[in-house]
Amino acid sequence: MKVIKTIQGLRRELQALWQKGERIGFVPTMGYFHQGHVSLMARSVRENDITVVSLFVNPVQFGPTEDLSRYPRDLRRDCAMAKAAGVAVIFIPSVKEMYPQELSTWVSVNALSEGLCGASRPGHFKGVATVVAKLLNIVQPDTMYLGAKDAQQAMVIKKMVCDLNFPARVVVCPTVRERDGLAMSSRNMYLKPDERIAAKALSGALFAAKKDILSGERNALKIISKIKKLILEETGASIEYVSCVSATDLKPVRRIKADVLIALAVRFPSARLIDNQLVILR
Ligand code: PAJ
Repeated sequence: MKVIKTIQGLRRELQALWQKGERIGFVPTMGYFHQGHVSLMARSVRENDITVVSLFVNPVQFGPTEDLSRYPRDLRRDCAMAKAAGVAVIFIPSVKEMYPQELSTWVSVNALSEGLCGASRPGHFKGVATVVAKLLNIVQPDTMYLGAKDAQQAMVIKKMVCDLNFPARVVVCPTVRERDGLAMSSRNMYLKPDERIAAKALSGALFAAKKDILSGERNALKIISKIKKLILEETGASIEYVSCVSATDLKPVRRIKADVLIALAVRFPSARLIDNQLVILR
């Protein structure tokens, strides 16, 4: 596996592959890998001639009071995991390499970026869309792999790729979970032992909600209150949002008539966690 730190170095490496028409798979990440990241890499390795992973903790997607400075990092372990997954190239640029000067050009994906996490993280999806646009131009992959764990992010990026005609396919892969159901996340390492145990309530409540909808419940408010109740009973955490939104435009629904995304964000004293379930009506 090649470790490349500059855009020029990466371009030099990829030039021949672009010319030969090799299939390039791309997995953008912020590192501190877990099996969720590895599942995206493994899928890309299976479906492409070579896989490029980017590891960049992107400052412009963090708010001023967020965890940029303490975001977990372990480059040696990350490189070992990527290599074991069959990744050919890991691109680890510095902040200076990605942002040599202040940006004047940003990518804002309106509407989809506004609700759910966008409401409490203003500018977050603008920072995500902008860095992913830059990375797509740098790597020029055939296919980019994203996780369903960050469902709103995946929808925002898909919309950007479509609106701006990026010549890449986007594949969204299922959320990988711990044995007790907690969605894997680099931020789970912030959790204190008691918070870690309580955190299984998030997925538990989402699974129960999905089951209720598939058994015929159509009242979104009832679904939402039940999720909130379960989470409040089992964790000391504060709920940022629990929403039942249309799976196509992320707008809140009252009566469930088509596929919905049930999404939530919960603040534990040591970490903010998100999770979701897509419910496809049969
Ligand atoms: P990061 O949080 O490192 O996640 C990188 C990719 O891994 C994202 O597509 C995310 O959805 C996926 N992922 C995270 N946890 C997962 C899980 N439990 N199961 C499956 N996939 C999972 O998301 C980002 O980085 C950044 O915002 C980025 C897109 C790289 C832009 O900076």
